[in-house]
Order: sequence, then C-alpha cells, then structure tokens
Amino acid sequence: MKEITLTIESLASTGLGVGRIQEGKFTRAVFVPFTCPGDSVKVKIIEQKKKYYMGELVKVITPSPSRVPIRCKHFGVCGSCDLLHIHYDKEVEMKKAFLQYMFKEFYSGDISVLSGSPDFYRQKIRVHAENGKVGWKKYRSNDLINVEECYLIHQPLLPEMRTLQKEEGEFYLVDRGDSVVIADSSDEITLEDVKKKKVPICSYVLNGQNILFAPSCFIQNNAEVNEKTVNVVARIFEAEKPTTALELFSGIGNFSSHIKNCRMTCVEGDEMSSYFATMNAPTHHHVHEEVYEFLEKNKKTYDIVLLDPPREGLREGFEEKIASITDTIVFISCNPSVLKESLKKMKEFEVKQMIFADMFPRTHHVEIVVLLRKNA
Ligand SMILES: C[S@@+](CC[C@H](N)C(=O)[O-])C[C@H]1O[C@@H](n2cnc3c(N)ncnc32)[C@H](O)[C@@H]1O
Repeated sequence: MKEITLTIESLASTGLGVGRIQEGKFTRAVFVPFTCPGDSVKVKIIEQKKKYYMGELVKVITPSPSRVPIRCKHFGVCGSCDLLHIHYDKEVEMKKAFLQYMFKEFYSGDISVLSGSPDFYRQKIRVHAENGKVGWKKYRSNDLINVEECYLIHQPLLPEMRTLQKEEGEFYLVDRGDSVVIADSSDEITLEDVKKKKVPICSYVLNGQNILFAPSCFIQNNAEVNEKTVNVVARIFEAEKPTTALELFSGIGNFSSHIKNCRMTCVEGDEMSSYFATMNAPTHHHVHEEVYEFLEKNKKTYDIVLLDPPREGLREGFEEKIASITDTIVFISCNPSVLKESLKKMKEFEVKQMIFADMFPRTHHVEIVVLLRKNA
C-alpha cells in the first residue's frame, strides 16, 4: 500500500491521531496510532474503508511540540498505553476536547476535569503467563508481550509479576501497600473462604477509609482520581438531599461508602463484591441481585438513581425503565460512545453537569460523570 506524508490535526476518541488528505474533490480522514496532533509524519496506508483510511506510522518527520520522549521500551507494541508520547497536560486537554465535541448536542457547558498523577497509578493488574512470557496483549493482537517495564502500574507489582514468567494461566496481582497479593484467577475463592479469612483481603484508601475487596472484585484502579470522583458524587448527593436513593452496579461500595446523607438501596450482581459493600458502606441496604431482574420487579420510585454500568452499558430498554422511576440520575460511564447512546434514549432528561475524570492516564480511556434532571 502507498506511503504518504500527513499532518496530524486532532486526536480521536479511540486515541488515534487524525489527519486528512485531498483526493480529487474529496477529503478523506486518515487515522494513525501513536501520533500526536501537530506531528508531520510519514504514514503507510494499511486499510481503505469507505470514508477513511487506516495508516501505520513509518516515521515522524517533524514532531509536534506536544510530544515527549518515549520512556518505555514496549511503547508502540504494547496494548496497554497508547498516549505515552504526548505531554500529559496536552493529553488531558485533548481528551476533554473530544468529549466536549462528542457531547455537544447534550451539554454546552464546560466539562470539568479531575486528574492526578499520570504515572504508576494502577494498583491491581490481571496478567497472563504463557510459554515463558508474562504480561498482557500486544496492541491490536492476541499475542502476549513479555512485560519488563511499565509506567502505569504500582512499581512493587513489576518484580512480583516477573516471578510468574514460568507459570501458565491468568493471575490477579494487587498492591496492598505492605505486600503484593497474587491470586490465580482460575482458583475458586468462595465467600466462605473470605469470611474464614483463608484468603488475603486487599484494600485501597479512600479519604482515609480502607475500602476492602477480594482480588476478583472490580475496583476503580486509580486511587487518587477515584477519590476526587467519589467526592464529586458525594457533593452532588449533599446538594440534592435525597430521601430515597438507588444505586445500580454498586460494586464493593466505592461510592456508597461516602454517601452519608441518605440510606440507599445498592444493587450489585457479584456476590463477593456485594459482601464487601456491606462492610465498606454499612449504613446502606445492599442487595445482591442482577440489576435487570431487580428493575423488572421494582415498583418504587426514588429521588435519585446513581448508576455505574460496565463498559458495554445498559441492556436494551433499561434507560427508559430507569427514567420512569426517578427525576434525577447520576450516570457514571467509562465508555463515551455507549453513554451517548443512552443519553439519546433519555430524551426527557437534561444534562446539568458533566465531569471528565482522567482515571486512565496514558491511554485514550476516560471516565465520565453526568448529572441528569428530568425536564419540568
Ligand atoms: C463499572 S463497575 C462499578 C462498580 C462500582 N460502582 C465502583 O465504583 O467500584 C460495574 C459493576 O457492576 C457489576 N455488574 C455488571 N453487570 C451487572 C448486572 N447485570 N447486574 C448487577 N451487577 C452487575 C459488576 O460486578 C461491577 O461490580
């Protein structure tokens, strides 16, 4: 395929740099991984789609002023971070810009930003060990990369991870501060084991409180930005002063542990997570149930509903269901495209506040908090 020179103009929500080429009367976008707005680059076209091209970086001809030297030997091969080559302040600015553009039909206000230290922020990792390699997948490939350095993870995790090089399987590693917990993800850890303290319990600190969890539970992996996000949500609750509140996909009680001015019903499908939520947020009512089954049966209405679904978003038809039981929603999402589709279905709601929490620095991933209120 042909090689072209290109100026990168912007960053797409997928983390790819975007440039444009003129072809007769038409302008065609070219998406190129590991490039930065302001770069002049030589690119090999590797795929032609109907409206755009996919390119592969051959050479940076003139680097953008927003570029920084690449520190990691795995960058460009590793599937973990795709923005390590961009100055962190610029990364935040660019992510905010694509969110502001993406949600312009719903929110014309300024999206506020929560950020923290961009390095060494992941406290928990999941790694694969296979054929003498230990680490995670290569960029857009199923091949494993033998990870020897990483600027995203808590540094005590790295030597512990390397000890698994001769193993086969999938493992969770969690930095507890005093030690690193390693758990084979295929081991059946039961709630009984946890209650009898047969397995190590992990924790992270949230405003001075130890939030407890088992290695298999979902956690927000960036403690610093998570604390800021939880505090923002707690302030929304203080301002709203709800009498009745519902939390869906409540996990280990990350948010509910800090919501003190009402008694929420918190619904979580993972039994282990729901058990830890009863310890982390003891003043709330915790229900271990599949969210959609709970909503099908539910006959109550609530002053506020807080929800934080997994990456794939809500199941078809449930935006409408949630909209029918409340006038105020705090919607947390780690997937802007899926969030946008949900907002389209909640037509009777207006976005009052939008916050971008940079929970995943050096990657194109973002976390968004949206406050929605039903139009009068
Ligand atoms: C993105 S996490 C959010 C957890 C929590 N809000 C936090 O901040 O740690 C989504 C949670 O939803 C749970 N979950 C996923 N699908 C579910 C379902 N259909 N019903 C109930 N819980 C579900 C997962 O176990 C996970 O704890």
